[in-house]
Amino acid sequence: MTVASRKHQAMYVTIWYTMGCILWTAFVYLTGNFAVLFTTGTNQANLNWMYVHNAVGLIFTPIGLAIAYYFIPRASNTPLHSHKLSMVGFWSLAFVYVWTGAHHMIHGPISQWLQTIAIAFSVMLLIPVWAVVYNLFATMKGQWHQLRESVALKFLMSGVVFYLLTCFQGPMHSLRTVNAIVSKTDWIPGHAHMAVLGCFSFFAIAGTYFAVPKIWGKALHSQSLANWSYWMLMIGGLGFFTTLWLGGFWQGWQWNNWSIPFIDTVIALKPIWIVRFVSGVLMFLGIVMFAYNILATAMGANEEAAA
Ligand code: HEM
Repeated sequence: MTVASRKHQAMYVTIWYTMGCILWTAFVYLTGNFAVLFTTGTNQANLNWMYVHNAVGLIFTPIGLAIAYYFIPRASNTPLHSHKLSMVGFWSLAFVYVWTGAHHMIHGPISQWLQTIAIAFSVMLLIPVWAVVYNLFATMKGQWHQLRESVALKFLMSGVVFYLLTCFQGPMHSLRTVNAIVSKTDWIPGHAHMAVLGCFSFFAIAGTYFAVPKIWGKALHSQSLANWSYWMLMIGGLGFFTTLWLGGFWQGWQWNNWSIPFIDTVIALKPIWIVRFVSGVLMFLGIVMFAYNILATAMGANEEAAA
């Protein structure tokens, strides 16, 4: 009703994505649950994957992009490069995402034509992805120097790069030949974590760093701790994602060679998992620093107000 009774006719792209997220969440949740109740076997599996993929594409993605579209122009004090392009991104996402669920079952027990449709639509997703990434990069044209000063912008623009990498990786591993190597290996959590931890968490952290000092009308508790949290999450994240991709690709390569016993493929990955563990610890420390900084800002402001 807030949107319906608005004063300004034009809606900024963040409102489109937020409204999309609210409506699609209801649709995805209902279809997902009905699918489980009223279908069985491979039909159920297929509908279940439609549910899963829409959860990432029609719930996480729109709300994440809503944050990025709002905070990048705000934090850099620069208008969005193109409203038209942002609409191309929104509507092409709305049209394309819903047909891609079956790419989770490539080489699985479903019709080949269904797999081919899912692959074709997965590749088409490059259109909304490019529209978003180009628009946000073009917005920052001539403004890149601001990244030195603003932790929020550092997180936001790194998130955009992670979004591009995730969504380039996605269409590629939908292809039958690539999928035959990487499916069910560490590569897939590498992809999923780069999306949710690398991209959307970075957007959310940036939004929090930007908004909390404004809400409490007080400077951030520590700028240098915020920078440390960025580098911990960035270095930890890069270590985490790259070890998962490299390890996953290697794992898939070995699994495709049937003469290698499975247990040997587990042992071979041990050094890679150790690097991943260290990277995970760095990410954890980054999150703790972030949480402490935000809490200290809010509590410091409350104490000042009480005094
Ligand atoms: C262009 C966009 C994308 C495409 C085409 C794509 C494609 C894929 C494909 C083909 C798989 C399955 C691989 C397999 O198991 O064989 C997959 C897995 C996954 N993707 Fe994406 N992806 C995209 C973006 C995203 C985004 C933005 C997110 C998160 C918000 C995401 C989250 C996941 C997750 C969680 C899985 C693992 C599901 C599981 O097996 O449990 N993806 N993706």
